Amino acid sequence: MKGVYRALKLESDGALLVLDQRILPFEEEWVRIEDAQACSEAISDMTVRGAGVIGNVAAFGVYLASRECNGELGCIKRLAKKIRESRPTAVNLMWAVDRMMDVAAASKKEERTERLKEEAIAICDEDGLASRNIGGFGADIIEGLMKNRGLTRINVLTHCNAGWLAIVDDGSALAPVYEAARRGIDIHVWVDETRPRNQGANLTAWELQKSLIPHTIIADNTGGHLMQHGMVDLCITGADRVSRNGDAANKIGTYLKALAANDNRVPFYIALPSSTFDFSVNDGIKEIPIEVRSEEEVTHIRGVDEEGLYKRVRIVPEGSAALNYGFDVTPARLITGLITERGVCTPQRESIESMFKEKL
Ligand code: MRU
Repeated sequence: MKGVYRALKLESDGALLVLDQRILPFEEEWVRIEDAQACSEAISDMTVRGAGVIGNVAAFGVYLASRECNGELGCIKRLAKKIRESRPTAVNLMWAVDRMMDVAAASKKEERTERLKEEAIAICDEDGLASRNIGGFGADIIEGLMKNRGLTRINVLTHCNAGWLAIVDDGSALAPVYEAARRGIDIHVWVDETRPRNQGANLTAWELQKSLIPHTIIADNTGGHLMQHGMVDLCITGADRVSRNGDAANKIGTYLKALAANDNRVPFYIALPSSTFDFSVNDGIKEIPIEVRSEEEVTHIRGVDEEGLYKRVRIVPEGSAALNYGFDVTPARLITGLITERGVCTPQRESIESMFKEKL
């Protein structure tokens, strides 16, 4: 990957610019966000998405709230609560808002806005550092696997988008891919299209194309077949929330890929920064809140026609009901390892706790 890409940036006048992920890969447009309400909306309508970037935008949202409230704590708290509730599953959102509110509470009113701006920038930069470290540990796994199996090319399958559009600067699941490419490894990525919103087909493919990384988009149901025929060496996905015992919530369909990987002895890794752990959750399946989104995301699809006109079309009979769970939880027993910024741990309570002792 050449250069550093980020899906958000701060303007010199303090407003936030975010890359509109609803219209990629067809159009590249930046949206200007000037207040806390606009931040909440950008998160809930998925102008921005992906656990890390949601957390980053939420952090800047608390800073913008302070600007609007002239640093008055009660007012910031009210606006921050709305941001915190803008999506339910990715814990980076709640984590970022809580961290920002701790800083708000600990700073003097006249310094509060500036301190919050610094903290939001720090959160982004820490994510960037975590992403690069995840990339290093993940690329070591790729190199090790290739060496053990005598491979000259590696085929990695990923689901949804966990690249730089989801976490600055290299993402989580794609960070090992980007790092492997930098190391000169011959790597090819199977990109699950990721219905219903197609984050794989729209976003992951766009990212990989920009970075000249060989990739092939596949329908979501194809992975199992590829695995049965030895065409997938490794699966890596990101996560939106990981429990203390290693269960991982990620985009709907991840669980099915983990089952297929397990049946075919394909290593299945989850890549995540430590801000994606929720140490208060012991059983991911029972306790992680799963977002239910609009039926329309299932009943309609968007894209460009032959004339390049952007269109949204219905693909189901009028009147049929649809159900749209945004995430599922892959149980720890199906996960080979968790690739974090501190190294790779096994998806077990003891291993996670010993790596992140001071965060418990
Ligand atoms: O609904 P989304 O697009 O926000 O879901 C994103 C995912 O599930 C990603 O795979 C996840 O956030 C991991 S990347 C940080």
